[in-house]
Amino acid sequence: MRIEMLEQNKKSWNKVAHHFNGKDALPSYGPYTQTEEELRLFDDVEDKKVLDIGCGSGHSLRYLAEKGAGELWGVDLSSAQIDTAKRTLEGLNANLHCAPMEVDVGIPKDYFDVVCSIYAIGWTTDLPTTYNMIHSYMKPGGSFIFSWDHPLYPFLKSENGTLTFAGSYQDEGTTTYRHFKGEDAPVSIPNRKLATYVNELIKAGFVIESIVESDVSAAFDSDDEDVSDRYYSLHKAKRFPTTMIIKARKPF
Ligand SMILES: C[S@@+](CC[C@H](N)C(=O)[O-])C[C@H]1O[C@@H](n2cnc3c(N)ncnc32)[C@H](O)[C@@H]1O
Repeated sequence: MRIEMLEQNKKSWNKVAHHFNGKDALPSYGPYTQTEEELRLFDDVEDKKVLDIGCGSGHSLRYLAEKGAGELWGVDLSSAQIDTAKRTLEGLNANLHCAPMEVDVGIPKDYFDVVCSIYAIGWTTDLPTTYNMIHSYMKPGGSFIFSWDHPLYPFLKSENGTLTFAGSYQDEGTTTYRHFKGEDAPVSIPNRKLATYVNELIKAGFVIESIVESDVSAAFDSDDEDVSDRYYSLHKAKRFPTTMIIKARKPF
């Protein structure tokens, strides 16, 4: 675990939280990506105990509550996000923890039917510990579904609509951005290969059920392509998945 990096990211997430209210939340798995309504990766959540890692503004938990989830739990590094989640989930009796996902804050073990994480897992400074903890929270037979930037996507640059590859996928270091959402909010994000996300799941004891390199969601499926050089654009997403989605299970 990298304490300084967590402190910096926490401060910055508190600053930018307002940009993310209701963003990157179920049924969305990520920018331009097929949604849960299209992919149907979740098992039935009726009366089930669910935990959202990096729960942000609480909208994914609210979606799962609308699907009948019995218990709602969430963890997030940012107190600003947790405050928003409390408002989003008002009246729903959710158990929310403001803590890094890398730290055991007393979340019950062998307890959850479903653990999910939408665009948050890649922030962890310690992937093996995070996966091991998630595994420990889950009931045997439970499922873990998460989405994150496709690990190759950050290397895909667009110049006047022409896509090129820049940088080194081989380097599993950390990238620091001085600004986040246009604010003076430095963040550091570890770079990991797709194989690292998968192999560490296997080492933690999970069985991989599905890896989705999603098509563009039907909601964006028009010819009207936005040829822009933005980090996320329909033009890029139609040629390369913005997002990877992995479904894994804790075996019986
Ligand atoms: C893109 S947002 C996820 C949004 C969320 N899925 C929702 O429904 O609102 C990423 C979240 O990860 C949280 N985060 C970043 N690093 C974290 C860490 N080490 N442990 C726990 N949460 C973290 C951020 O505070 C942020 O709320």
